[in-house]
Amino acid sequence: MNNLKTNPANIEVGVVGIGLMGSSIIVSLLASGHQVKAIAPIQSDFDGAAERIADHLKICSRAKLLRDSVSACLDRLYISMDYGCLSDCRLVLECVIEDVDIKSKVYRQITDAVSASTVIASNTSAIAITLLQKLVSNPERFIGIHWAEPAYATRFMEITCGDITDPKYASWVFKLAHKWAKEPTLLRKDIRGFIANRLMYAVYREIFHLIENGKTTMVDADKAFRYDVGSWITLMGLFRRIDYTGLADHAEIFKNLFPHLSNAENVPDIMQKIVADNCRGIQNLNGLYHYSTEEAKEWEEAFAAFNEDIFRLAALHPAPVSEKESELA
Ligand SMILES: NC(=O)c1ccc[n+]([C@@H]2O[C@H](COP(=O)([O-])OP(=O)(O)OC[C@H]3O[C@@H](n4cnc5c(N)ncnc54)[C@H](O)[C@@H]3O)[C@@H](O)[C@H]2O)c1
Repeated sequence: MNNLKTNPANIEVGVVGIGLMGSSIIVSLLASGHQVKAIAPIQSDFDGAAERIADHLKICSRAKLLRDSVSACLDRLYISMDYGCLSDCRLVLECVIEDVDIKSKVYRQITDAVSASTVIASNTSAIAITLLQKLVSNPERFIGIHWAEPAYATRFMEITCGDITDPKYASWVFKLAHKWAKEPTLLRKDIRGFIANRLMYAVYREIFHLIENGKTTMVDADKAFRYDVGSWITLMGLFRRIDYTGLADHAEIFKNLFPHLSNAENVPDIMQKIVADNCRGIQNLNGLYHYSTEEAKEWEEAFAAFNEDIFRLAALHPAPVSEKESELA
């Protein structure tokens, strides 16, 4: 039986997949005081995993995001390729590539190792939770927990129920997420792409439409988005912004602007070409922008520093009225 009343810090958590997100999720869990069992599903994932995680922990320590020392955190971590070590975990987070067949194989190995009431969660970006939970025995304990990168320095988290998820597990994870310093959203319905991805992809569709029609450039679009949305979104979200700036104006703008927005269903031509050309963005210095090696490094450092700043800024400006209880109501 999964005892949902156990002190959160005493819960042993498993993470399967120690790639980009798996590593930073492990760090977030260690920073929150958990014992963590990390599974590397393939050899290349295992090689260097301890160093990757230690490097993240050092960044966290420098940013004063750790309560314990780096070595105390590492003492709570066990890395293995053997799923058997997950046997005592109350919660296992799957964090492998976005491929249903591979996730399915991984779930088989997780369910063979854990108890029937261990909560199993996927960090999938866009595969339906209702589909994934069918791949697991006792599917009522399956849930989506969608983190943002880097997991230890972001407040975002979407917790999503599949059609047959038992809500008691969703509430348990929702409460636990506050111990991980998250501001979680609980989605009782399985929405394809959840909330944040649906919003961002609507924005991407529109901006690619404008660029492909020669109406603007990526540089100008990035500048406008950074200095408009970037100046208020972390405090207000979408709807308080409307309340603050004028309801009637917004209604008028909806009427005038909606007919002009893109409804395209195809992948934008620019994206099709860039993927076909094997551009991998900052990883191989060729993406929607080009980078020198130094520029790529500077962007990575700037992103890490900015994440630390905004993680703190969000805590300095919480919503004046707590939204936590109403989200659970
Ligand atoms: N990168 C992000 O910003 C981000 C954000 C939210 C959600 N996600 C989701 O998190 C998941 C992992 O993404 P990531 O960015 O960490 O990817 P990644 O490529 O860095 O890591 C992928 C992981 O998949 C594992 N893997 C690869 N081939 C495998 C195989 N044949 N069998 C078993 N495991 C295999 C690897 O061991 C590795 O741990 C995906 O579902 C992704 O959609 C990613």
